[in-house]
Amino acid sequence: MRRFPPAFDLVPDQVAQVIQLAGLAPSPHNSQPWRFRVLPHVIEVHADRFGWLADVDLTDRELRMACGAALMNLRLALAHAGVQPVVTLLPRLAGPTVVAEVRSGGHQRPEAEQIALVEAISDRRTHRRPFHPTAVSVECRRGLVQAARAENAWLHLIQPSERGALERLVHRARLTRLGDGGNELAAWTGSPADAESEATAEFDPNPLLAVLGMLRSSPEDELRAGQALQRVWLTATARGLVAATPPEMAAVPDIRDDLRRLLGGSIQPHALLRIGYGAPSPAAPRRDPGELLIDAFPASNRT
Ligand SMILES: Cc1cc2nc3c(=O)[nH]c(=O)nc-3n(C[C@H](O)[C@H](O)[C@H](O)COP(=O)(O)O)c2cc1C
Repeated sequence: MRRFPPAFDLVPDQVAQVIQLAGLAPSPHNSQPWRFRVLPHVIEVHADRFGWLADVDLTDRELRMACGAALMNLRLALAHAGVQPVVTLLPRLAGPTVVAEVRSGGHQRPEAEQIALVEAISDRRTHRRPFHPTAVSVECRRGLVQAARAENAWLHLIQPSERGALERLVHRARLTRLGDGGNELAAWTGSPADAESEATAEFDPNPLLAVLGMLRSSPEDELRAGQALQRVWLTATARGLVAATPPEMAAVPDIRDDLRRLLGGSIQPHALLRIGYGAPSPAAPRRDPGELLIDAFPASNRT
C-alpha cells in the first residue's frame, strides 16, 4: 500500500483515514472524479476528468458537485481528527484541476454533530431498493432543511400539489439524458437501459422528495451545492433515513429552468433527492485511497 505523507499535525495513518473518508462521497455512476495532493500545510482537491462522462455533463456541473461532496467528507474527517478546516474554493493561483484548497485554522475538538456526520459517511448509500411506507417525521424534515442551510443552500420539500409536475419533468429529463449521452453512459453502465433502471420505483408515493437549491449556479456554487447535498445526505443517514438522487435535470438546462419556475423562480435547483426509510443497499466499490493521491511537489514549493 502507498505511503501517505503527514499533513497539518496529522500522522500518515490519520491522513490515510481522512482521504479514505473523502473518497466515500457519491458521484454520478460512481465515477469518483477526485484526487488529492497532500502537502504539509494544505490538501488540494483536484477534479479528475479521467473517464469522466463529458458527453452527459457538458459544463462539468456534476463533476464539481461530486468534488463538492468529497470536499464535505474531507472537511468533516479533518474536523473529526481535530483540525479546523479552512477552505478556499477554486483558488486563483492554483493549477487548472484544483477545485479547492483546505488549510488548517487550528485545533478544535469535534462537535457532537460533526462526529455523528463522520460516522454516517461509511453507512451512506445511494438507496436502490423500495422505500418503506413510513413518513419522515417533521423533526427529521427540519433537520434536513437545517443541514442545507448550514451550507448556505436551500432544501425545498416538495408539496403534494407540486409532485405531479415534478414527476413529469424528471421523466422528460431522463429521456433527454439517455438520448444525449447514451453512448457514453452505455460504456459505464453496460447499456442505456441499465442507466435508466437505476431509478426504478422512483415515484413510490412514500419517500419525501426534496430539491436542493442555491441562489446562483456559478462553478463555485456548484461546489457549494455538492457540499450541501452531502451534508443533507449524511444528516439523513445519521437519522436512520436512506436517500437517492434520481436521474434528474442536472444535465438538462431547459428542464432545470422549468424546475426553477415550478419552485417560484428565484432559486437555482442543483439536485433532487428522494428520502425515506428502507433496507440498506449494498456498498458501491471504491478506489483504493492510495490511488487517490497525486504526488506532492517538493514541500518547499507549496506550503
Ligand atoms: C452529482 C451526482 C449525480 C448523481 N446522479 C445519479 C443519477 O442520475 N442516477 C443514479 O441512480 N444515481 C446518481 N448518483 C448517485 C451515484 O450513482 C452513486 O453515488 C454512486 O453509484 C456511488 O454509490 P453510493 O452513493 O452508494 O456510494 C449521483 C450522485 C451525484 C453526486
